[in-house]
Amino acid sequence: MESIFKKISVLFIVLLCFNCSSGDDSPQPNPNPDPDTNPNPNKITTYDADVKAIIDAQCVRCHTVPAQNGAPFPMRNYTETIVGVNRDLVLLVKSTGANVMPPEGRLPQATIDIILDWEADGFLEK
Ligand code: HEC
Repeated sequence: MESIFKKISVLFIVLLCFNCSSGDDSPQPNPNPDPDTNPNPNKITTYDADVKAIIDAQCVRCHTVPAQNGAPFPMRNYTETIVGVNRDLVLLVKSTGANVMPPEGRLPQATIDIILDWEADGFLEK
């Protein structure tokens, strides 16, 4: 029992060390890894004023009813878009990988920043 505990402690310490050393030299895929990033702290970003236009222009052609191109849920209004938020909308929009939304390619950073700002302000409707 005690030896298992020791092994786990050693493993934990080793993991901690790995964590420390994996920092600066590895490439950063995401320029804004902090979910609390607030690109525009002087502005309160809301769905109605800022985000709806982006979703309508970039997402609703697939995320609608009936769904187009296999999009798994609609985002025609605030309530439906919050369903998307709970399914990693922010992560997918800022992704630099193949899972990026929209699938054709990452939005301009300025547009992504509006969505990050919306997140920082608490996903307000209005
Ligand atoms: C060309 C069609 C298309 C467009 C445009 C599109 N999506 Fe999607 N979306 C999909 C498809 C298909 C899936 C499911 C497959 C996948 O996860 O890659 C999906 C999945 C998602 C998911 C994850 C659902 C889950 O639970 O796995 C989110 C969140 C999402 N999209 C958000 C967005 C946002 C936000 C936009 C606009 C910025 C957008 N999508 C634009 C087709 C699209």
